[in-house]
Amino acid sequence: MYKEPMFKNNELDGKVIVVTGGGSGLGKSMSRYFMELGAKVVITSRNIEKLQTAAAEMQKETGGDIHPVACDVRNYEEVENVLAETLKKFGKADVLVNNAAGNFISPTERLSAHAFDTIIDIVLKGSKNCTLAFGKHWIKEKQKSATVLNIVTTYAWTGSGYVVPSATAKAGVLAMTRSLAVEWAKYGIRMNAIAPGPFPTKGAWDRLLPGDLKEKFDISKKVPLKRVGEHQELANLAAYLVSDYSAYINGEVITIDGGEWLQGAGEFNMLEKIPQELWDQLEMMIRSKKG
Ligand code: HXC
Ligand code: NAP
Repeated sequence: MYKEPMFKNNELDGKVIVVTGGGSGLGKSMSRYFMELGAKVVITSRNIEKLQTAAAEMQKETGGDIHPVACDVRNYEEVENVLAETLKKFGKADVLVNNAAGNFISPTERLSAHAFDTIIDIVLKGSKNCTLAFGKHWIKEKQKSATVLNIVTTYAWTGSGYVVPSATAKAGVLAMTRSLAVEWAKYGIRMNAIAPGPFPTKGAWDRLLPGDLKEKFDISKKVPLKRVGEHQELANLAAYLVSDYSAYINGEVITIDGGEWLQGAGEFNMLEKIPQELWDQLEMMIRSKKG
């Protein structure tokens, strides 16, 4: 069931949605589903060939409208150009999905200052650039409603070693989501976030679990539901959050991780490892302490 599309009937008809990093991974899966639901989509990232190939593929699959635009989200002028291209092609923009990201694993002391900056610039500055450019436009044009959806991670609030620039940047994006949810609500702009757990994609997996790390750390074992995420279930959640059905949801971050981060957080969750047959014995030992 969770592999099935949730909406079926053009629920995003007429919406124009800009997805950064929309030519690969989760961005592509969300874009494809938005198109299936009747939205016009602009996908953007640095690699125009990749975007054009993805756009042609999705256009063929869905019969929808899509426009690929090259943009490095670190450069404000390039982001302004995405907005201009969107208005030129589709006449308006309703939704911005800040999905583009950069990340790799490394002990933090091995990182150059430039390496740290690179991740902060793509994730935090990139999301800021897009949000500011589109937000200014919506406010100036007095557009009735608009939505920003930020893709963060669960370590935006727990933090995580070995991906410290990414954790630092995602925490900033989450703070921006909550701050602007309040400040820009008066302009009809909703701000929400999704915090995915592990969803296999080439971009993330090759950088976060390179070589045989994939076999060494079976990531599905870290998840109480004992599986990784399906792209469609993330796309379902994203479609809901950018649709008018979620009109009263503002400033929220929704976790979709099978319970992964809570398993790491709960003090006694390691007791999961205790075999059922040992519990009788343990209970007796505990009860014998009475008095
Ligand atoms: C240490 C590294 C490094 C590494 C690059 N650098 N890779 N340092 N370990 N593995 C350093 C470089 O030496 C350089 O510093 C600086 O970082 C910039 O590197 P460039 O290659 O010039 O950067 P650029 O071409 O802009 O590429 C950005 C990138 C790359 C982030 C390094 O990996 C990329 O394009 N990534 C985009 C896709 C991606 O990362 N997707 C994953 C998202 S997954 P110096 O000092 O030498 O100049 C995700 C999931 C989170 O976020 C949660 C999962 C559960
Ligand atoms: P991905 O395929 O590598 O997606 C990252 C995208 O960002 C790529 O399309 C990339 O395209 C684009 N990008 C990178 N740097 C950019 C820049 N400077 N300017 C513009 N675009 C840029 O990885 P993914 O797994 O789908 O990740 C998508 C989002 O989900 C990210 O925000 C990530 O943090 C989040 N997330 C993923 C997981 C997971 O398990 N997969 C878990 C938690 C959170 P170009 O290279 O063409 O620029």
